[in-house]
Amino acid sequence: MKFFVDTADVDEIREINSIGLLDGVTTNPSLIMKSGRDIIEVTKEICSIVDGPVSAEVTALDYDGMMKEAATLGKIADNICIKLPLTMEGLKACKALTSDGHQTNVTLCFSANQALLAAKAGATYVSPFIGRLDDMAIDGMELIEDMRLIFDNYDFETQILAASIRTVNHVKEAALAGADVATIPPSTIKALVKHPLTDKGIEGFLADWAKTGQTI
Ligand code: G3P
Repeated sequence: MKFFVDTADVDEIREINSIGLLDGVTTNPSLIMKSGRDIIEVTKEICSIVDGPVSAEVTALDYDGMMKEAATLGKIADNICIKLPLTMEGLKACKALTSDGHQTNVTLCFSANQALLAAKAGATYVSPFIGRLDDMAIDGMELIEDMRLIFDNYDFETQILAASIRTVNHVKEAALAGADVATIPPSTIKALVKHPLTDKGIEGFLADWAKTGQTI
């Protein structure tokens, strides 16, 4: 499973990228707002940090507006992936942009039928929002399982990008359900490595090592 980081904070992106586990970045208007920076400037910096795709989201709701914004965003760098909402206008823009050679990420997906439409529109990625479904007491993982089955039934190349990931269990469950990618907040990526038995094991080994008086 590929790991994207879901943030527009360049310090966090640099830190996680330096570990060598990062395959891409996703942003959205709320994350740009949190960064406090200009969208073009911060997206350009993010694109220079990572080699993989960097999703940048349009804000227009009509096809012409989306295409205009996509043209501006697409000029930022070669690794820009244009993020579009899962609406009829967004699907139309997805089809046009994909045919034009752009990478696309169709976002705000909450049903298997929406995902099927995004795949038919040729999306590179479609983003089911797991946490927001869980907030409504709907099992977000069932959506990923349904999408996996539908995409495999018809050999769609569109990748399932599990989004709105809130917990380490979401990451594990998305991997078990066959998501191609998970976009994860920085704090959750860091939490994945933690286990009390790992810490306890290191402590025990170091205590015994000290007794040997050796160095390596
Ligand atoms: O990847 C989408 C994500 O940024 C939304 O997450 O936690 O606001 O539902 P959340």
